[in-house]
Amino acid sequence: MKKFVVLISGNGSNLQSIIDKQNLGQISGKICGVISNKADAYGLVRAKNEGIPTFVFSRKDYKSNLEMDLAIAEQIERLGAGLIVLAGYMKILTPEFIQRFEGKILNIHPSLLPKYPGLNTYQRAIEAGDSEHGTTIHFVNEEVDAGAVVLQAKVPIYPDDEVEDVMGRVVEQEHQYYPLVVEWFCSGRLVAKEGKAFLDGRELSITGYAEE
Ligand code: GRF
Repeated sequence: MKKFVVLISGNGSNLQSIIDKQNLGQISGKICGVISNKADAYGLVRAKNEGIPTFVFSRKDYKSNLEMDLAIAEQIERLGAGLIVLAGYMKILTPEFIQRFEGKILNIHPSLLPKYPGLNTYQRAIEAGDSEHGTTIHFVNEEVDAGAVVLQAKVPIYPDDEVEDVMGRVVEQEHQYYPLVVEWFCSGRLVAKEGKAFLDGRELSITGYAEE
């Protein structure tokens, strides 16, 4: 069985959605650890409630980002994880870390990438007058919020929407699709090769999986 770690910084609702699917037997892999760069992340409580080992790495305890990422990498290897799931991990990983785990790191970002990398995506989409927004699940490369797209899910933006309205719709999609993509990876259906994502041996398009 493939083991994986989940990296968080906060609430951990995506982590919870993965735990729930695992408990329902819908994920063939197993979460072997939850790692946070914030000691007060609520996601740590969620993990502890499930008996999942938790680890906190605080930037203040390390001389550099590289040193911190090295410590995290060693912990991940000690746990024997074959996949790293970023779920609201709000610290940019060093190129050294990303190279070490090339093709084994997934991220979820609340926008239809390449639109709106970075922060405040909801506000930016509303201010731009966009009629749709969404979420992107992608492999991680050395660019922030880039890397081969696995799946995108769209939601509408209506004229009177506030950030919370759009966020609610996006988060619902995230909770539905992130566990599914994790399962694709754990079952060996999803792989990354030379910067591209393949599902069942077929290369995914630049917008990722599209339901037929
Ligand atoms: C998610 O919306 C995800 O897209 C972004 O950070 C948020 C994390 O939320 N990367 P949570 O901690 O999983 O509740």
